[in-house]
Amino acid sequence: MRAARCEEYGGPENVVIRDIPSPEIIPGHVLVDVAAAAVNYPDLLLIANKYQVSAPLPFTPGSEFAGQVAAVGEGVTGLSAGDLVYGSNFNGAMAEQVLVPARAVAPVPPGLSLTEAAGFRVTYLTAYHSLVTAGGLRPGQWVVVLGAAGGVGTATVDVAVRLGARVIAAASSPERLKVCAALGAEAGIDYVNEDLKQRIREITGASADPGEGADLVIDPVGDRWAEPALRAIRWGGRFVTVGYAGGDIPRIPLNIVLLKNITVRGVDLRMWTQLLPEETARALQALTQLVAGGMRPAVSEVHDLADVGTALRRVAHRLPTGKVVIRLKP
Ligand SMILES: NC(=O)c1ccc[n+]([C@@H]2O[C@H](COP(=O)([O-])OP(=O)(O)OC[C@H]3O[C@@H](n4cnc5c(N)ncnc54)[C@H](OP(=O)(O)O)[C@@H]3O)[C@@H](O)[C@H]2O)c1
Repeated sequence: MRAARCEEYGGPENVVIRDIPSPEIIPGHVLVDVAAAAVNYPDLLLIANKYQVSAPLPFTPGSEFAGQVAAVGEGVTGLSAGDLVYGSNFNGAMAEQVLVPARAVAPVPPGLSLTEAAGFRVTYLTAYHSLVTAGGLRPGQWVVVLGAAGGVGTATVDVAVRLGARVIAAASSPERLKVCAALGAEAGIDYVNEDLKQRIREITGASADPGEGADLVIDPVGDRWAEPALRAIRWGGRFVTVGYAGGDIPRIPLNIVLLKNITVRGVDLRMWTQLLPEETARALQALTQLVAGGMRPAVSEVHDLADVGTALRRVAHRLPTGKVVIRLKP
């Protein structure tokens, strides 16, 4: 089968297309004919060997996909060959076939194309867990989403708006903020050119009253933006750290957390999926209902497998909005 392969750690140019043997079905697993796989920022970290966990060389990148079940292993129930599924895994998705534990896939929610489904699970589950499971979001609350025009960002804006939140999107240009406004964000902040903390306080109408400000911040960017966003949270608010696309992992003065009685939580989808199966099932069910109500992932680019390097480079250079998808089947 054809697969993208990382044979040496480094940048997107190190990912090449190779013919490799198809995986063999094993108990408890499903073999999926991949129709499409999505690019996520962590793919770049894995290729560069800068992710929290290393992938031994050589490996096939890609942590989410959609396609058709080709074979089911012994002991798997509820799935059969021919089913359309979407799923996520540590890596291996950017190939014509992927072998994953059966719990890593679910039926494609009615209404989603395979291209959309490929870019759904990682970002929308991360968004839902960040907003609801960790963030305790309630309708009418002010939510600040950093990196709001990216994959996790657009999903977070989308879910938050649909759950009745008032969303403040932060992104690096007015054009990128337009994408967030189209998803229903009530306000936008160009965090490269505007004072993030000041603007959040203005938009939420915060005065000197400590009970005023943002209720919840979802942060997939970190770096120099985490602290001003944290400082704009109201007394008793919440901050969810999701990733560090900005480069640096921020060090936050803990006295802000103390003085404002802020709850800081982290979401790591890989571990949450393994260790919190009930919460994951609840989140997927809620997301399926939102899809039935018209929610669709913001797929902005589709590239052929042969152009995987271009797709990865565009994400590395912060160019796309929403999701970038790799097509495995015409
Ligand atoms: N915790 C989890 O389980 C989990 C799951 C998925 C992803 N993540 C993390 O969440 C973050 C976002 O992932 P994603 O797949 O949504 O990525 P993405 O689509 O590339 O979005 C990242 C966004 O971050 C912003 N950004 C700011 N500084 C940047 C920089 N120096 N380089 C690149 N982007 C920069 C960009 O928006 P602007 O240009 O508008 O600032 C970009 O849209 C990553 O750190 C990823 O590792 C975590």
